[in-house]
Amino acid sequence: MKKVILDVDPGIDDAMALALAFKSEKLDILGVTTVAGNLSLDKTTKNAAKILDILNAKCKVYAGAAMPLKKKVHTAEHIHGPTGLGFFSWSETEENISSQDAISFMAEQINKYPNEVTIIAVAPLTNIAKLLNKYPNIESKIAEIIIMGGAVNVKGNVSEEAEFNIYADPEAAGAVFSSSCNKKLVGLDVTLKVLLTAENLEEIKGYNNKIADAVVEMTRFYLGKYRDVNKLSGCALHDPLAVGVAITEEIVKTTPMYLEVVEEEGVKRGKIVQSDTGHPVDVCLKVDAKEFLNFYMDTLK
Ligand code: BDR
Ligand code: CA
Repeated sequence: MKKVILDVDPGIDDAMALALAFKSEKLDILGVTTVAGNLSLDKTTKNAAKILDILNAKCKVYAGAAMPLKKKVHTAEHIHGPTGLGFFSWSETEENISSQDAISFMAEQINKYPNEVTIIAVAPLTNIAKLLNKYPNIESKIAEIIIMGGAVNVKGNVSEEAEFNIYADPEAAGAVFSSSCNKKLVGLDVTLKVLLTAENLEEIKGYNNKIADAVVEMTRFYLGKYRDVNKLSGCALHDPLAVGVAITEEIVKTTPMYLEVVEEEGVKRGKIVQSDTGHPVDVCLKVDAKEFLNFYMDTLK
């Protein structure tokens, strides 16, 4: 089993990603770390705890950064709803929340299992940048960082140029891209090809299990937002696809690129640009969308 740490900001698609990860028999989840992103850190942490509760997960939630490295928090309640989980409701529980912080937890696990731990980062990269900054020798001990973020050959979803996770903390993303870690980027180039439709949701309703029901309650809301805000006929499985790549990398095709992030204020802030030097990032540019959607739905059965 692949040892993973999931760095999340739930967020509807984060919750969908956690459901996939915990139902997979291929992943050994060491812990779930949270960061401010779709909502404040307090809310993403409590939401992660609720999701772990419904999934009967054995691991804990570790809270990380409440603020991006340099700028203000940029949230996305307009897509995920005021609670961050759409129409889903579940009693509050703090039982799964550890008192240890996310950065020291990640460092501890990576040092315990050198070259074995993959970080699946589906939120602003603040926690990961802080980890690399605080523990300079850790880069060579991380097996891989799989990042949901960015738009390389397609338009952004926050601005013309930028994708949410990169836009929310461009300085952190820049630091992670320039690190020597093995990195894979699962950006809008591929995630916008994996759309879950209203018909798919009807099918999931028929699965009649509590995890599928929770996904339905969240996704009903998310689908509506994708229809109204993004004018799409389905909602994008951004974060689940990053987990899917950790489970089976054959569903995507990657191209190595040197990447930088525009940090200057203005319309290009958060845009990913290609450079000639640095450390390469394996960028996912093709995905077998049908295969992944079938795989996702099968896992919820
Ligand atoms: C990313 O932004 C967030 O709103 C989603 O959870 C996902 O991680 C997509 O751009
Ligand atoms: Ca996310």
